[in-house]
Amino acid sequence: MKITRRELLKQFGMLGGASILLPLGGCLDGTSGIASSGAGTGGSSLATAMGMGGGSAAPSSPVVTPFQVPLPIPPILAPVRTDATTDYYEISMREAQTSILPGLQTTVWGYNGMFPGPTIKARSGRQVVVRQLNNLPAGVSVHLHGGHVPGDMDGHPMDLIPSGGFKDYVYPNNQIAANLWYHDHAMDATAEHVYKGLAGFYLIGDGFEDSLPLPKDQYDVALAIQDRRFNADGSFNYVFDVNGVEGDTILVNGAVQPYFRVDTRRYRFRILNGSNARAYTLALSNGQPFIQIGHEGGLLPAPVIRTSITLQPAERADVVIDFGSLALDTQIVLNNTAGSGSTAQIMRFDVSNRVSDTSTVPSTLRPYTPLSASQAAVTRQFVFSRNMNGTSPWVINGNLYDPNRVDASVRLGSTEIWELSNRSNMPHPVHIHDVMFQVLDRNGNPPPAHERGWKETVTINPMETVRVILQFTDYTGVYVFHCHILEHEDFAMMGQFQVS
Ligand code: C2O
Ligand code: CU
Ligand code: CU
Repeated sequence: MKITRRELLKQFGMLGGASILLPLGGCLDGTSGIASSGAGTGGSSLATAMGMGGGSAAPSSPVVTPFQVPLPIPPILAPVRTDATTDYYEISMREAQTSILPGLQTTVWGYNGMFPGPTIKARSGRQVVVRQLNNLPAGVSVHLHGGHVPGDMDGHPMDLIPSGGFKDYVYPNNQIAANLWYHDHAMDATAEHVYKGLAGFYLIGDGFEDSLPLPKDQYDVALAIQDRRFNADGSFNYVFDVNGVEGDTILVNGAVQPYFRVDTRRYRFRILNGSNARAYTLALSNGQPFIQIGHEGGLLPAPVIRTSITLQPAERADVVIDFGSLALDTQIVLNNTAGSGSTAQIMRFDVSNRVSDTSTVPSTLRPYTPLSASQAAVTRQFVFSRNMNGTSPWVINGNLYDPNRVDASVRLGSTEIWELSNRSNMPHPVHIHDVMFQVLDRNGNPPPAHERGWKETVTINPMETVRVILQFTDYTGVYVFHCHILEHEDFAMMGQFQVS
């Protein structure tokens, strides 16, 4: 069932002399100074950045009135068994029918048939084993995004579970509390598999986080924001586009632009951009700020007040919103100021119930020790660019991903600086597997407060260079790093490193 890259290239007319659809601007070298409007703040959507018509070529989805359905909360998966050291889970990856658009059914590929998948709650220092049974008609690979795991547990693109097979993924959770997610990572097919529904939350908690007076329990809510395009019959309309596929319908936890009834108090929202290619710029319709408390790698050293937050694919923002001073019946929309029309609104908060609030946001969160550049023995350069004359436009250091090539041989225990440069006209959210990193600098300047602490995905805007510092601890194996715009990843903006 596996489509080879060669077949894929052929399918999209990229072999045999057919020309690649290159959007305006085409190739960039480091000097052509193309206008990157909005890109400096990451605020431009892909369609804008590419100068495309924003869906004019693709048919529009059936129109849905926003805020008609309540926010679904994906269920917490119960372990099938636990022992002194480990919680054991079982998930069946399968096709299922679900209702997303009113009156219509959508076929999804889901973990336990759910879109998004069930949430796994893990604890720092306690092992989790997930048996993933593949009841789908294609080979799949499950990656724990943000997980610090041995190479053979990482869901390498070539480490496919065949249809009908299973794999036991062992996750040590030897890492601090953080909002991870798990998703498909199959060679050449990740974008389509994730679009069909193969993604879910994996939240790691720990004692330190528990000790903070942050909102908890039903006031602590995970939100997966995704965009999809639908056919008139309710099925997903996925047409591969090497520039990235954007939908025209915004979903949160699998529901179209839901509403959520809130009490007059603080809430914690763990927000994931789980979209293939669309970036969101989040802002509240009443102008109220978010208190950002965390990102990919867990809690920030200190909260950051932000009225707008841009998330590229795979990026997360852990935020507190205080509804405490609002009148009952107030409605606040979580807007996407990078969107327009049907993509400009994400969900609505309806203030419904007066309560008192004992939660607070402490002025310091998780302390961390910044790594210094002098600790690194090795510096590597990776240039993310558009390729003019190859079979696919997205390359790292001029290369398409090749599972048989190791791009960096890393010594276990070493500290390295990776200098990530974007020499193309669209942002690339660069994700590195295996270990969390710290951002050393962005174009030579210290990172903004919301990029401090530990991360594993960082957006490199056009013509930017971001330096990150990594310590390769604990595990060996072959891991990938890539742009997390999933069509860029499949179309080969990916490399791999071997830790030994
Ligand atoms: Cu979220 Cu390599 O993936
Ligand atoms: Cu990952
Ligand atoms: Cu990219």
